[in-house]
Amino acid sequence: MLTTRSKNPWYSSETEPLREEARAFLAALCRRPADHARFLNTLSLMEHVGSRKIMLSHEGRPLAEDALKHLSEEARHAHFFRRAAEKVAGRSLGYGAGDALAPWSGRMYMERLDAALTKRLGDDRALAYRYVTLAVELRAQWFYELYQEVLSAEEMSLSLKSVLAEEDAHLKEMQEALEKADPLYEPRCAEFSTLESGLFEKWFAAMGLAG
Ligand SMILES: [Fe+2]
Ligand SMILES: [Fe+2]
Repeated sequence: MLTTRSKNPWYSSETEPLREEARAFLAALCRRPADHARFLNTLSLMEHVGSRKIMLSHEGRPLAEDALKHLSEEARHAHFFRRAAEKVAGRSLGYGAGDALAPWSGRMYMERLDAALTKRLGDDRALAYRYVTLAVELRAQWFYELYQEVLSAEEMSLSLKSVLAEEDAHLKEMQEALEKADPLYEPRCAEFSTLESGLFEKWFAAMGLAG
């Protein structure tokens, strides 16, 4: 979806070094099946944590149809990546350190992002679900698209097409809702994206070292 991609800060030339580092990391993983399985399972963990976060963020208030749909799609992605991971590993996996890459760091990425954005939103913390989702989806679009490019280049049979289409739709939905609901959308989007970037780089570095 060009509309969302053109509004994604991670497609700028400034992020090119990280993009190339991530590309090399992903390509190396594709050639190491045991670690590749752990990476796929790490993505499953992140999707699972994301799905759980949507559920928790609506505790005590009505869960609207769109949020329920989002939650169910993130749970589906968690299953999608777990199934792919187990296929590569040839065994069943859990979310412990032996079966994922730096799982603790991945969980911290999500927790810190959620806590930091909620704190910065102050009286507008009701917007936290949408802003946290926005920040994660901007990253997911960038990272999953790059991963798909690498999978194709490495002639792997796995396709992320269906996951990418759903992440694109989530991102578009958040952008449209926040643009309408929040007069501070532009500066907050920039501030939160920068914050997410720092957290992502820490998580990414931890995965590299764990590999
Ligand atoms: Fe997802
Ligand atoms: Fe999503």
